[in-house]
Amino acid sequence: MNTILEVRDLGISFGSNQVLKSVSFDLYENEILGVIGPNGAGKTVMLNILSGILKPGKGSVSFMGRDILPMSIVERTRLGFGRTFQIPRSFENMTAYENGLIGSVYGTGATERAASLKVPAILEMIGLSDRKGVFAGKLGLIDRKRLEIGVALASNPKLLLLDEVAGGLTESEVSDILGIVRGIKEAGVSVIWIEHVLQTMLEGTDRVMLLAEGRDVVCGPPEAVMSSKEVETAYLGA
Ligand SMILES: Nc1ncnc2c1ncn2[C@@H]1O[C@H](COP(=O)(O)OP(=O)(O)OP(=O)(O)O)[C@@H](O)[C@H]1O
Ligand SMILES: [Mg+2]
Repeated sequence: MNTILEVRDLGISFGSNQVLKSVSFDLYENEILGVIGPNGAGKTVMLNILSGILKPGKGSVSFMGRDILPMSIVERTRLGFGRTFQIPRSFENMTAYENGLIGSVYGTGATERAASLKVPAILEMIGLSDRKGVFAGKLGLIDRKRLEIGVALASNPKLLLLDEVAGGLTESEVSDILGIVRGIKEAGVSVIWIEHVLQTMLEGTDRVMLLAEGRDVVCGPPEAVMSSKEVETAYLGA
C-alpha cells in the first residue's frame, strides 16, 4: 500500500481554544478514510488545514512526498486536492453544467473548451446529467450535494475531501451518495470522508479514524472502530 498523504503531529489553536493538539495519520492510495468525531472536535478545521484555508500552529503534511504546507489553495488544487464544503458553495444562479465548468477551469487551468468536454462525464458520474440545465439554487438537497461532489471532481483530484455530504438525507439518498463515492474510488481517487451518518462509515469506508479531544484517538477497520469503547466514550462525553 502506497501512502499518498502523511499527516504528522498537526496542531492548531484559536486564542486559548486548542482545537487540534496532535493529529497524525496516513492515507493510502485509493483508500476511503472515514473521519468521525463529536461536534466541534475539529474535523472541518483539519480539512481546512489540508486544503490550505488555515495554517496549522505545528506539524507537517506531505502529499505524494511533497511538503504542501507552504502551498496556496490554488497550488494544492492543481496538485490534486478537491474538496466539498459542509454548507454547499455552488453558484446558485448558474446551472449545474456551468458550475462544473467553473470548477474545471479554476481547478485545472483548462480552457473553457477543454473543460466543456470533461464536464458531461462528471455530471454522469454524480447522476445529474438530466438536470444539467437547472440552476443550482433550484436543485433539491440531494442534488446540491451531488453537485458539490461534482464541482470538487471537476478539478480532477487525486485526493477528495468530503465534509458531511450525507447529512440531512434519507436512507435511500445516502445509498445514492455511497454509490457515487464508490465510483470515485474506482476511478483511482483517494478520499477523506467526514460524516456523522453511521451507514456511510460502515458501508462506505476502508478505515475509520476517530478525532476527539484534539487527537486521532483510534484508527482502523470500520466495524471495529465504530463499536469501540473509544467511540462510545467520545460521543457520551460530548
Ligand atoms: N476560523 C476559526 N476561528 C476561530 N475558531 C474556529 C475557526 N474555525 C473553527 N473554529 C473552532 O474550532 C472548533 C472546531 O470546529 P470544527 O468546525 O472543525 O468542528 P467539527 O468537528 O467540524 O464539528 P461539526 O461536526 O459540528 O461540523 C470549534 O470550537 C470552532 O468554534
Ligand atoms: Mg464540521
